[in-house]
Amino acid sequence: MAHIVSTRPLIDGGLSGVRDEHTLTVCDPPDGSTRSVDELIALADGADVLLSVLADPITEALFEARPGLQMVSQYAVGVDNIDLEAAEAHDVAVTHTPGVLTDATADQAWALLLAAARHVPAADRYVRDGRFERWETTHLMGMELARKTLGIVGMGRIGTAVARRALGFGMEVIYHNRTRANPTVERQVSARHVGLGELLTTSDVVSLHCPHNDESHHLLDAAAFAKMKASALLVNTARGPVVDEAALVDALERGEIAGAGLDVFEDEPEVHPGLMEQDRVVLAPHLGSATTDTRMRMAQMCVASITALLEGAESVPHRLV
Ligand code: DGY
Repeated sequence: MAHIVSTRPLIDGGLSGVRDEHTLTVCDPPDGSTRSVDELIALADGADVLLSVLADPITEALFEARPGLQMVSQYAVGVDNIDLEAAEAHDVAVTHTPGVLTDATADQAWALLLAAARHVPAADRYVRDGRFERWETTHLMGMELARKTLGIVGMGRIGTAVARRALGFGMEVIYHNRTRANPTVERQVSARHVGLGELLTTSDVVSLHCPHNDESHHLLDAAAFAKMKASALLVNTARGPVVDEAALVDALERGEIAGAGLDVFEDEPEVHPGLMEQDRVVLAPHLGSATTDTRMRMAQMCVASITALLEGAESVPHRLV
């Protein structure tokens, strides 16, 4: 019987598969805040498996302090909170949950895109505040999406799903990716591969779908915003640090870009105060995968990986290390 520690409560019933077979400890941070390395080390005491979320800093210090740890099962597709090299060096398996959250995250990108393009939060506040007194001819005018260009940075599963949805809105799609997508995928979603510079200068909406790593850190910085159209929108459902948030605030204040839809932030759960003040920015608390179906599938995927590892299966699904 192994000891599995989940750093957060997951969706009801999501972990029932391991509850029967093993000892499961589900932790609940009292204030919902991000945990420190020391707090994680404390709660991983005696754990064989740590079920982590993207806010957990899984560093070498944890592996050193808890040599009995066999596995980190990450309840997310992104693993930029985990030191994979250190995990490998300490012989700790790491798994994640790719694929199952593609549609939910692509939907969230589109929800933010549409909300930013048509001022949905501002319109909602206007009506609730009792300011809707008559139909106006030029009030809260938005961006029409048909015939506009959507630039996708990162054409993996989620970027491709976002591109597929753009077909229905009559948008032209261009994308930037380190490696060019398979021609069949390009044809299916009518997307054209371009350099990042061309994407920034020609897109009406730039949507980020790349992982966060050394290469993509602050990929959208002051120089990038200066290249974008003054009418353009930025959507980020990838990872906060892909965007230099201070530079984004400056670009919005200077009118270098028109607005943004942001699901992720550089220093979550902190949000740059300059973004809070912007009416043309739509904010969400990292909800990309937050649908009941998806969160259940993510939990089941973690359970499948944990079970395979603990049973000594030859191959552990969705193992990165
Ligand atoms: C992920 O899985 O990486 C998402 O950001 C979580 O919603």
